[in-house]
Amino acid sequence: NYVESGSFRWSSPSNIALVKYWGKKEHQIPENPSVSFTLDNCKTTTTLHFSKKENNEKLSFDVFLDGEKKDDFKPKIETFFKRIEIYLPFLRDYHFKIETSNTFPHSSGIASSASGMSALAMCLMSIEKLLIESDITLSEVERSLNNDFFIQKASFLARLGSGSACRSLEGDLVVWGKHDEIDGSSDLFGVKYPFEVHNNFKNYQDTILLVDKGEKQVSSTVGHNLMHGHPFAQERFKQAHKNLSSLITVFKEGDLDAFIEIVESEALTLHAMMMTSMPYFILMKPNTLEIINKIWAFRQTTNSKVCFTLDAGANVHVLYPECECEKVCEFIKNELVAFCQKGEYIDDKIGFGAKQL
Ligand code: PMV
Repeated sequence: NYVESGSFRWSSPSNIALVKYWGKKEHQIPENPSVSFTLDNCKTTTTLHFSKKENNEKLSFDVFLDGEKKDDFKPKIETFFKRIEIYLPFLRDYHFKIETSNTFPHSSGIASSASGMSALAMCLMSIEKLLIESDITLSEVERSLNNDFFIQKASFLARLGSGSACRSLEGDLVVWGKHDEIDGSSDLFGVKYPFEVHNNFKNYQDTILLVDKGEKQVSSTVGHNLMHGHPFAQERFKQAHKNLSSLITVFKEGDLDAFIEIVESEALTLHAMMMTSMPYFILMKPNTLEIINKIWAFRQTTNSKVCFTLDAGANVHVLYPECECEKVCEFIKNELVAFCQKGEYIDDKIGFGAKQL
């Protein structure tokens, strides 16, 4: 390697799945395809400093969150580095300083793994690109790294950090997992949703209601593993394929009623899988249900197209078209904020992925 030291800085957003990924095989291969909206405001900014070291026996890095050294983040990153070092042979040649910060509070119950791992993957790919470009033993053609390859490999690496992270690099809709009707879809990395999307979905809004800001009771790794031998697993995986097929038509035609039906059913199915695994668990809180009921009542009394989705936690993502901003924001303030912990929520919307800073 001809480069002594340097640094790269990327920001990358979180994403919210519409068809959920829940259940994986070895090597972070999903049991079913998923699709997500990339978010805009909820993001991680990471600066990766690298400097050449003498001895390349061991991986060496430090992690800082908001300027403070965070040794408790190291095991997760160490595991990630070990998984990806065969794809990034330079990892042992450098000492890394990872400086990271999130736009959302660390203890908001919003997982920072998708934004964090995708930002780190982009920084690592920037180093790879620099090393290739400065390798004088390569031909000019070999030295130019194509942008599609860059993103695809970054997504591949991000997946090995946290599965859903592979859906955060681009926007506004990303598919991860092989699906018959989606050419180019892969279990190994996320791809931009390739078909027509109706204007009804442009600039879709997501207000995240922070119902419970505590640490997750069940890590997603444990959750995914509980799908092994789960009595309803095979049906669930089939359903995800079917829901993704249906969404292709929904996106094309702009059918918001059909969208609501699929998205809410996906969220409830995710939680139903948790409630019917062994051991079983409930990640929704009473206020999660209060909010869901309020949303249903609001839809009945107005002709709003607001709906909800959930992650593996108690927080509620309230999704609605841009043209309903005023009406739904009013509803959220008047009727839903009361169910949030300390009245906290985050206004977000569809975004376009990672950016180099
Ligand atoms: O990426 P992981 O392993 O944290 O799993 C994420 C799983 C869900 O957020 C519940 C669903 C999804 O597709 O993002």
